[in-house]
Amino acid sequence: MSTPLVIRDRNTMRNLILTNQTMGRRIGFVPTMGSLHAGHTSLVDRAMAECDDVVTSIFVNPSQFGPQEDFERYPRDFDADFNLLAQHDVRWIFAPDVHEMYPPGDSTRIEISGPAEPYEGQLRPGHFSGVATIVFRLLQSTPANTVYFGAKDWQQVLVVRQMVRDLGLDVEVMTCPIVRDKDGLALSSRNAYLSESERTRAQTIYAALQQAEENWCRGLAIDKIELKVRDMLSAREIRIDYADIVHDESLRKISEVSRNTPAIFLIACHVGSTRLIDNILLPSQT
Ligand code: PAF
Repeated sequence: MSTPLVIRDRNTMRNLILTNQTMGRRIGFVPTMGSLHAGHTSLVDRAMAECDDVVTSIFVNPSQFGPQEDFERYPRDFDADFNLLAQHDVRWIFAPDVHEMYPPGDSTRIEISGPAEPYEGQLRPGHFSGVATIVFRLLQSTPANTVYFGAKDWQQVLVVRQMVRDLGLDVEVMTCPIVRDKDGLALSSRNAYLSESERTRAQTIYAALQQAEENWCRGLAIDKIELKVRDMLSAREIRIDYADIVHDESLRKISEVSRNTPAIFLIACHVGSTRLIDNILLPSQT
């Protein structure tokens, strides 16, 4: 357990990282929007194992929320986050305010096509532009050697990787496995919105993904696998935005003839008024 240093401004943060790198230290960075849970701390622990120091950012990024989305009510508890990060030996917490990251008059955004276009990109216009813009700015302030993301936000990882490649950013992007609760539900800060009965219904998401994986391995036709998942979710009154098997990088639909390519089952759905996403990688069938 160590007490993290909280830094609020970009220049101080950047100088600290650069100074420590000059001394030969390897820095790992875990960007978050706070409301931390074991999914986040698994990223911190991985960063701790691979780097000398870890910096975590806590910033609820307004530009990645749509006008009807939950920016205002997004859970915030800085003290709880601070204590959790202290338990995991994070050295610095970068917690800027909104004007630090978006100075008055700010009018620069990063737009990404390709992986940012389908699925979340279509359903949440502007979301990935907001994510890319803030991740770029955070990486400028925390020029770490490696940045860690969770696989639950699979499309986000693809978008960040695309940006890092295209802009030649000098950072390694690591993707870490999804962390689930005992009942299988993928950890997410938004799980806090679920009532007890919604929480029970939400377990169906992972159950459906596991069933899909089994059916995939048994060689069931792709449209049948997807249909079974949709039926399972609908039976629990879970409204589906998408439930598709796609190529794990291009996010294009996979046809029967190409089912030996790396695939992923992506789900976005609504349990009551809470929107949840989840996924499962499907083993290659060569
Ligand atoms: O995954 C998140 O928590 C956010 O999208 C991120 C990467 C911290 C950017 O605000």
